[in-house]
Amino acid sequence: RRKIIIDTDPGQDDAAAIMLALASPDEIEVLGLCAVAGNVPLKLTSRNIRIMLELCNRTEIPVYEGCERPLVRAPITAEHVHGSTGLDGPTLPEPVLEAQSQNAIDFIIETIRREPEGTVTLCTLGALTNIATALQKAPDIAPRVKELVLMGGGFFEGGNITPAAEFNIYVDPHAADIVFRSGIPLVMMPLDVTHKLLTTKARVAAIRDIGTRPAIAMAEMLEFFERFDVEKYGSDGGPLHDPTVIAYLIKPDLFDGRDCNVEIEVNSELTIGMTVVDWWKVTGREPNARVMRDVDADGFFALLTERFARI
Ligand code: BDR
Ligand code: CA
Repeated sequence: RRKIIIDTDPGQDDAAAIMLALASPDEIEVLGLCAVAGNVPLKLTSRNIRIMLELCNRTEIPVYEGCERPLVRAPITAEHVHGSTGLDGPTLPEPVLEAQSQNAIDFIIETIRREPEGTVTLCTLGALTNIATALQKAPDIAPRVKELVLMGGGFFEGGNITPAAEFNIYVDPHAADIVFRSGIPLVMMPLDVTHKLLTTKARVAAIRDIGTRPAIAMAEMLEFFERFDVEKYGSDGGPLHDPTVIAYLIKPDLFDGRDCNVEIEVNSELTIGMTVVDWWKVTGREPNARVMRDVDADGFFALLTERFARI
């Protein structure tokens, strides 16, 4: 059973990842959920995490608020994808649950220092601002982290917010640069994987047909979320990004990739936020990440549906 911290900016696909983690207590223990600014501003991402905990009846899990803005750049949001609340789609009550008074950065540092070395996995579903800030404040935590599994980046698939950059890395490339140089074992779920995971009508219907309130709310979120991508990509449903991180912890065999060197572009105006993946090993630079490229899409959605039915 993995002890994890989820750092997230919900986002309907973040919400699906959170639900998947909460539905999988045999494999995953969620130590805490940290909010970061991204898809929408911090107050809303924090609210959306708390809505998900209430929807799934798991209000004993603590929520922490982290950074309101990226390390260097001005904030960038994605209401055009996720709606003005970040969780548009279903009608859900405002949460009663409150965030902890401790901030996410100190929670991350204290937890990694307190738990036995090599036992805490960081799961990041948004920009890497909170993690980079924790690493800057407490460099001693890096060698204690078991693994950091992130949704972010793209290589053969290109970017989704600029031609070169994926949203999570683009929002805070300077933070990503710190994380990719940290020495923490990284597993990267890029657009090359997530663009193969389309929320087709049949897949969303299978989730809705579970019939519980959380499952129906999730189906409504996925239907809202996919509108943007169907219009944009003309595909049969939108790509489902963030649950890949949690699915990897439960069933790593769903994914296939390579150990590669990855560096983050932080200087160029044209390609800032690009994940430069040395897939063909042309540089001789040491691998710092396991970069996934392929996924068993039907197996992934079967896992999601089976787990959502447990909530
Ligand atoms: C990533 O950007 C966000 O909009 C999604 O939640 C996901 O984490 C995809 O590029
Ligand atoms: Ca996200």
